[in-house]
Amino acid sequence: MTLAPQRDVLALARVDDGSLATRALSACGWLEKGDLQDPRLRVETLSRFHVVSRVTAPDGRMAIVKYPAKGAASGGRNLARELYVYRLARWKPGIASALPRPILLDEARQILAVEYLGHAGSEWPLHFAPYPITLPAVAARLGMAMAKWHGDTTEVSLLPSLSAGILHLGNDTETATADRAAGSARFMRFLADDTVFSQLLAEAQHLYRPSCLIHGDIRGDNWVLQDDELKLIDWEMSGLGDPAWDIAGTLAEMVLQAIRDGIGAEPGMSGWPRTVETLAPIFLNAYRQTDTCDRLVPFTAARLLHVASEWVDAAAPLVNEDSDFTETGVMPILTTVRILCEKRTQATDWFTPWT
Ligand SMILES: Nc1ncnc2c1ncn2[C@@H]1O[C@H](COP(=O)(O)OP(=O)(O)O)[C@@H](O)[C@H]1O
Ligand SMILES: [Mg+2]
Repeated sequence: MTLAPQRDVLALARVDDGSLATRALSACGWLEKGDLQDPRLRVETLSRFHVVSRVTAPDGRMAIVKYPAKGAASGGRNLARELYVYRLARWKPGIASALPRPILLDEARQILAVEYLGHAGSEWPLHFAPYPITLPAVAARLGMAMAKWHGDTTEVSLLPSLSAGILHLGNDTETATADRAAGSARFMRFLADDTVFSQLLAEAQHLYRPSCLIHGDIRGDNWVLQDDELKLIDWEMSGLGDPAWDIAGTLAEMVLQAIRDGIGAEPGMSGWPRTVETLAPIFLNAYRQTDTCDRLVPFTAARLLHVASEWVDAAAPLVNEDSDFTETGVMPILTTVRILCEKRTQATDWFTPWT
């Protein structure tokens, strides 16, 4: 069976009593005591690694409340880094302009509440990537916003971002495959055993140079376009990192969106998929000059392999013991990575205008 290559779609929200979310919003004064009994108070909740709720107050105001799911469901994730970014934004305008307005930052209980970005009455969550990178206006605004949060944080002390973990796959395949479903573990071993992929990851690891705050998880459902400004959400993977990892994440997202849209990732003359040839100049002209160009080919390829592993994870119960992973939809991703590695020199030279 071939699955649509959209393994990263969101679960549907359900209506629940949302008592933790509403209690937190009441404790910080966003909800009044009487609101808690008001039948117009509405809570819709998504539950994955985190519980993310949209709370609608009786007067129509809306907030998002996020906290880690209990026990194993959280996969050991926590919101320390995400909460820290909201704290930093108090004195770093380059971050503040890229975030929704915070309502409650609670490190002790690991709760984040922020303004809801969207229109009242709209369905929530919106479908995956409601503002896709394939819209030139989105590519340009992401470039402007990213340049600001990178540029404003070069001297800031930060916990390291853990987002580039895929680069270390070859160091310890055992750990990388532990706790994974059989199909996903086999995919990680397949990547580690493949000469092209393993060399690429080792080289990318060697090139990685942390220097500023990176978001770390650049993907279409982690931003919302509001009043002509792009607001980034989901800073959980953020921290001190190589700015090239965010830029490469953006280039990878261009490829992935084209695959999701069924357009495919046909390579152009440069070795980059045509979609990147069209969109990357818009993004990079907005980001302006960068000294990261030497790393963009290996990092984009590595980020693509990371997302491929997520797609395999999501489809793991359907992966047969001897399958080549075709049923997970990752083939166009792997083909793109191989072509980029083959055409490495010309794909790197293609960035000359931005160096
Ligand atoms: N401030 C917000 N405004 C509107 N929707 C939001 C907001 N924060 C989160 N969401 C929605 O909830 C989803 C999950 O939130 P996110 O912070 O990305 O958590 P996760 O780590 O589970 O991906 C987002 O993809 C988005 O659809
Ligand atoms: Mg997210």
